[in-house]
Amino acid sequence: MTKLKTKDLIGLKNLSKEELQLIIDTAFSYKEKIYSQSTELKGKTILTLFYEPSTRTQVSFGTAIKNLGASAQNISIAQSSVKKGETLLDTALNLKMMGIDAIIIRHSAGGVPNLLAKHLDLPIINAGDGFNEHPTQALLDIMTMIDKKGDLKNKKVVIVGDIAHSRVARSNIWGLMTLGAKVTVCAPPTLIPRGIEQLGVTIETDLDKALVDADFVNALRMQHERQNNPNFIPSKREYHHRFGLYEKRMKRAPKDLIVLHPGPINRGVELSSEVADGPQNVILEQVQNGIAVRMAVLSLLLKNKGAKQ
Ligand code: CP
Repeated sequence: MTKLKTKDLIGLKNLSKEELQLIIDTAFSYKEKIYSQSTELKGKTILTLFYEPSTRTQVSFGTAIKNLGASAQNISIAQSSVKKGETLLDTALNLKMMGIDAIIIRHSAGGVPNLLAKHLDLPIINAGDGFNEHPTQALLDIMTMIDKKGDLKNKKVVIVGDIAHSRVARSNIWGLMTLGAKVTVCAPPTLIPRGIEQLGVTIETDLDKALVDADFVNALRMQHERQNNPNFIPSKREYHHRFGLYEKRMKRAPKDLIVLHPGPINRGVELSSEVADGPQNVILEQVQNGIAVRMAVLSLLLKNKGAKQ
């Protein structure tokens, strides 16, 4: 396969194994080029539209755009006409008429990138929508796992933390299951969404048990901003003791266990500082791979003439 079938990247749920493999292989081909520039997408203008805060995703998309020789346009939502009541769709239609070639969007409401994709005949890339999906994050997580241990078929991946409010968890589950990994989700019962086992994952509420024979553990950020109910966990201290990764727990876990975190880290909650800065984590490699993944996604989508809308 040399092309994606669709014009957009909305999520990993509907991507085939071949499409996932194409993006990952393309990302590996960019791995050595994340600090250099080409003219591959010269003449293209790509808009980043972030309705929620971001550091890693926004900057790495910006770096990917620059590396490929395209121009970046960024709207500061706080200063835009959205504040005067303009709808998102009207904003997007107006921007398209100004010669935008693709839109990268992050929004607090699930489904917004899909809505834009249906109304605009240009590539829409989901940079995180509500609890729904964060496809480029999962792609960079998966790329990092493959980089460390090769083929993910039958590898055991534990996703621990706030599964209920996490778009990163959903995209990881879709992508990892498609690639044949065995996925265990681990969280307090209050943070495990009902019916998640129907996706084919194993549920475990004891992290030490979940980590038996695990190859990777991906510790999710506690999504305080999405938790309307403050009582999902009794306290951060208790959460850290039961669901956090710290030295004593790492000594009980497999010696070759690799620790991932999508960032930003709440130190002392998901990870102790010893683990966040320790030898088993690959968090900063994830960040570097994020540039390669975003270069791959932009390159594949912007050269993908004739893909299905
Ligand atoms: N992991 C992630 O999406 O980080 P940002 O919110 O900083 O983009």
